[in-house]
Amino acid sequence: MASINLENVQKAFGKVVAVDHLNLEIKEGEFFTFLGPSGCGKTTTLRMIAGFYYPSKGAIRFGEKDMTRVPPEKRNTGMVFQNYALFPHMTVFENVAFGLKVRKVSTSEIKKRVSDVLEKVRLEKYSDRQVSQLSGGQQQRVALARALVIEPEILLLDEPLSNLDAKLRDEMRTEILRLQRDYHITTIYVTHDQAEALSMSDRIAVFNFGVCHQVGTPSEIYNEPANDFVASFIGEINFIPLKIENINEKTIEVSIFNELKRLNVTNSDFNYRKPTNKEEVILSIRPESIKLSSKPIKGTNTLEGKVELVQFFGSTIEVLVKVDGNILRVNMLNTHELSRIEKGTKVWLYMPEDRIRIIPKISGEVK
Ligand SMILES: Nc1ncnc2c1ncn2[C@@H]1O[C@H](COP(=O)(O)OP(=O)(O)O)[C@@H](O)[C@H]1O
Ligand SMILES: [Mg+2]
Repeated sequence: MASINLENVQKAFGKVVAVDHLNLEIKEGEFFTFLGPSGCGKTTTLRMIAGFYYPSKGAIRFGEKDMTRVPPEKRNTGMVFQNYALFPHMTVFENVAFGLKVRKVSTSEIKKRVSDVLEKVRLEKYSDRQVSQLSGGQQQRVALARALVIEPEILLLDEPLSNLDAKLRDEMRTEILRLQRDYHITTIYVTHDQAEALSMSDRIAVFNFGVCHQVGTPSEIYNEPANDFVASFIGEINFIPLKIENINEKTIEVSIFNELKRLNVTNSDFNYRKPTNKEEVILSIRPESIKLSSKPIKGTNTLEGKVELVQFFGSTIEVLVKVDGNILRVNMLNTHELSRIEKGTKVWLYMPEDRIRIIPKISGEVK
């Protein structure tokens, strides 16, 4: 097992800077995810860790060892590529054994290790089957077995589930987690799927345009997004533009929808820095964090609006509320006392202060 350290890593392809100023510390045994939209630099970063690319600048270390320019075969990393890159006309056994043969492992040892790992991925009965005759999920398992059989210190998975249908994806998620726990292997998982990232990871790094915007646990990324890109890429979010009018210890006075309002926020909400007077920032709040009431609520952190649309999803209900011409999304459980609320109803929204996040606006184009 090994920790992975990236220090000020940059990778440029000609004029295109695919990854920039990347600093990451991945702990031994951690399940770490790179999350971001297509083209944000996830694969490039993974390939630098595997040694298929060398960084243009910066350093990569495994534990104390400098690996920046060490070729892939000397790194002891196992990689599962997005398209699996299996040999279609070889059997399952031959595919999995390939890496061991290259490493000149003895025939008897190969037999033992391949059959052990095939059992782990539950493919022991398919050993002699040609890979081209397997289903997508089975091929996925062969690719995993092939990466695991060399007993790598680090497992690198590039969008390993993106070719599978939804049900199989769910199953394989659990499978990958089980294997990662069994082997206690430092794992980097690449995905553009936020649900996958939130449900599987110890920690997540969120990328956009070659820049890492935040590193944190799933709960930190979801509940305490660093900026509007992270907030909108992960889950549903409401953004309310704010202008800071006056800041005190605990209370800030802001204009919301051009109206002066007092807002209670905790200091931790200013995770990046304290905004300055007259600065334009964003209040972000998740739809499930807004409390809806059909009776007037007075005081701070409240807004008044009218129900514009009600959508029933079974266990949850989504209500779109129009507040001064802006639409806010509220999610509530089917058991909520207002679950039968109708369009046109006058409502009051309460935004609990520990659920509000004041964040900087960094991007014009989000999502
Ligand atoms: N070999 C390459 N040559 C030139 N540009 C590349 C190469 N690989 C990736 N890029 C560019 O680098 C950026 C990041 O790509 P990539 O790491 O593949 O993103 P992701 O895996 O997040 O979708 C993209 O703009 C892509 O076009
Ligand atoms: Mg990619």
